[in-house]
Amino acid sequence: MKANLVLLPGDGVGPEVTAAAAAVLERVARAGGHQIQTTEALLGGCAIDATGSALPRETLARCRDADAVLLGAVGGPQWSDPSAPTRPEQGLLELRAELGLFANLRPIPVYPALTALAPLRSELLESVDLLIVRELTGGLYFGPRQEQGDGEVAYDTMLYTTAEVERVAHIAFQAAQRRRRRLASVDKANVLASMRLWRRTVNRIAEQYPEVEVEHVLVDAMAMHLMRQPARFDVILAGNLFGDILSDEAAVLAGSLGMLPSASLGATSQGLYEPVHGSAPDIAGRGLANPIGAILSLALLLRHSLELELEAAAIERAVAATLQSGLRTADLGGQAPAGTREMTRAILGALL
Ligand code: NAD
Ligand code: IPM
Ligand code: MN
Repeated sequence: MKANLVLLPGDGVGPEVTAAAAAVLERVARAGGHQIQTTEALLGGCAIDATGSALPRETLARCRDADAVLLGAVGGPQWSDPSAPTRPEQGLLELRAELGLFANLRPIPVYPALTALAPLRSELLESVDLLIVRELTGGLYFGPRQEQGDGEVAYDTMLYTTAEVERVAHIAFQAAQRRRRRLASVDKANVLASMRLWRRTVNRIAEQYPEVEVEHVLVDAMAMHLMRQPARFDVILAGNLFGDILSDEAAVLAGSLGMLPSASLGATSQGLYEPVHGSAPDIAGRGLANPIGAILSLALLLRHSLELELEAAAIERAVAATLQSGLRTADLGGQAPAGTREMTRAILGALL
C-alpha cells in the first residue's frame, strides 16, 4: 500500500521518541513492501522559535494532506512564560480542532511483565483492560475564556452541545460493542449544568446500544475507583479535562506514563497519533525516554488510519516480548536501565 505521513517530533523528548517510532515504521513498511512516505514538520515550541507560531500554516496544510500524523510532544519551561503571546500547547489544541479530531482513544496497556511495578497490589491489575475515550475538541479547553484585562479576573468555560457529546458517545459505545460491552460515563452532573447535558445525552445515545451496560460515575469517585477496582471498567467515556486527568492517573496501572499511546480521530480515517506523555523536560536530551508510548501510537496509526492490522499487532507483540525479556527503561525501574535507542533496537529485534 501507499501512504503519506507527517511526523511532528515537537519538543523535549518528542524528537527522541518520534525517531524510535519512525525506525519501527521503516522496518514494518520495508518488510510488508509498503510505500510509506514520511515528512517532518514543526509544531509547538520549536515552531514558535522558528516561525513565531506554534502551528505554522505550512504544518497545518501538510497535516491536512497527509493520511495520518504522528506526533511526539510539545512544550517545555523555555516557552512557559505566562506573559508569552503564544504557547506550544496552543498549537496542539489548534491542530486537533482544525483536523476535527473529536475522539481521543487512550487504551491502557497492562503487561503482565510490568504489574509488579505499579504501586498497587498486582492482583488488582489482573484482567485490567481499559480504554479511555476522551472528548478532545470541546469542553473547558475550548469554551469562552478571558485572561487579559486588569489581570485580576480570568475564566474558562465548560461548554458542551448535545451534538458534541453525541458524536464522541457513539465512538465510545461502538468501542464497547467490540469489547466487553460495558461503558462508564464520567461526569460531574451533581454540580455542573454542562455535565447534566452530558449525562442526559449519553443516556439518550445508550438507547441505540441496548447490549452495552452503562453506568454513570462522578469524576471524583472515578479517580478513586480507578485505583481500587480498575478491572471493573471496560470503556471509560469522559469530557476533555476529566479524560486528560484520568488518563495520566491510569498510567499508574501501566507502570509508567511513558507506556501510554493515543489515537485522535474524527469523522474520516485521517488521525493524529501521539503518546499520552508530554515533553518530559526533566529527562529530555539524554536518551532516557521510554519510546513505548510512541511506538504503540504508531501501531494505532497503522491499525486505524492505514488498516494494517497485521503490522499493528506485530508491533504490539514485539513490545510485549521485549518487556517479557526483562529490558526496562529507567521509568520502568530498570536496575541497569536501557536507553531509548537500546529499547528501540530490542523491539526491532523482536519484530517477526
Ligand atoms: P510529562 O508527561 O512531560 O512528564 C511527567 C513525568 O513523566 C516526568 O517525570 C517525565 O520524566 C515522565 N515521563 C514522561 N514521558 C516519559 C517517557 N516517555 N519516558 C520516561 N519518563 C517519561 O508532563 P509535565 O512534566 O507535566 O509536562 C511537560 C511539558 O509537556 C509541559 O509543557 C506540558 O504542557 C507538555 N505536555 C505535552 C503533551 C503533548 O504534547 N501531547 C502532553 C502532556 C504534557
Ligand atoms: C495531552 C496534553 C495536552 C492536553 C496539553 C499539552 C495541551 O496534556 O495530550 O494529554 O491537555 O490535551
Ligand atoms: Mn495530558
